[in-house]
Amino acid sequence: MLKGRSLIEPGNFTIEEMDALFSLAERIEEDPAYLRESCRGRLLATLFFEPSTRTRLSFEAAMQRLGGSCLGFADPGSSSASKGESLADTIRMAASYADAIVMRNPKEGAALLASRYSPVPVINAGDGGHHHPTQTLTDLLTIKRLRGKPGDKSLRDSVKGLTVGFCGDLKFGRTVHSLAKALARYEGVKLVFVSPPELRAPEYVTRLLQREKIEYLETTSLEDAMPGLDVLYMTRVQRERFFNEEDYIRLKDTYVLSLEKMETAKKELIVLHPLPRVNEIAIEVDADPRAAYFKQAKYGMYVRMALLASIMGVI
Ligand code: NCD
Repeated sequence: MLKGRSLIEPGNFTIEEMDALFSLAERIEEDPAYLRESCRGRLLATLFFEPSTRTRLSFEAAMQRLGGSCLGFADPGSSSASKGESLADTIRMAASYADAIVMRNPKEGAALLASRYSPVPVINAGDGGHHHPTQTLTDLLTIKRLRGKPGDKSLRDSVKGLTVGFCGDLKFGRTVHSLAKALARYEGVKLVFVSPPELRAPEYVTRLLQREKIEYLETTSLEDAMPGLDVLYMTRVQRERFFNEEDYIRLKDTYVLSLEKMETAKKELIVLHPLPRVNEIAIEVDADPRAAYFKQAKYGMYVRMALLASIMGVI
């Protein structure tokens, strides 16, 4: 179904295709040997023009766990981009060596452009402050696993009635844009955006929510939002996207999730974070059973295994 397809933003896959990926990821989690040799002889190119730990390592781990191999770079300084090669040429080359390409690039729209030049599937691992769809697959699988009910047939059932709060840098945080866009497809979800006025979610996100008739509210107060949330998605202030350092310094510690704030939250809350964390979640919160961000990182590998096996057409 997904064979040969690119993933540039969450809307590229239907709700049913996402559900199929989540089921496959759950099957892999239950039985890690399932699909073990399915990608033997296949190659995945990982082209990272921006820093990454989890995304790149989880893609490489996923590909190797499927029996395939990876090639690529984690530092654009070591690629021909530093000699002035165009993205189109780099992509054409990578596509002639590999069966699929995973790319992170600081420019918004770079992944879409790459997919136009690539004869093999392109997976967007982050394009500037725009989208990060495989983080969204990770986030949704985590919500399904931790907040879903055993009989849920679809993610639709698991997210119905949930209030999801996003806190921090909602302007530049690409994981926020992708997750909000994905959630906008599910009826009965409510979103709460907590940010300083300078870092509000972009209009293209809030306009989409209005169009889809998704209930949302914007606030500057995490304290006020906290008691009503079922999921809290904390984010880092994206230093690398600021035009000046003073603004970053002024805004970076606006929100710090502390044990004190956790006391006012629901018992079933789950706290997510795409990571890396800087200061926005106090270390003490890690021991709270509601802190789910390290589990979330693990689900990322399972869902990337499901994604790779599907686009390579081995399932
Ligand atoms: C995120 C990203 O790169 O957008 N990290 C990730 O992929 N897990 C979040 C961030 O860098 O703050």
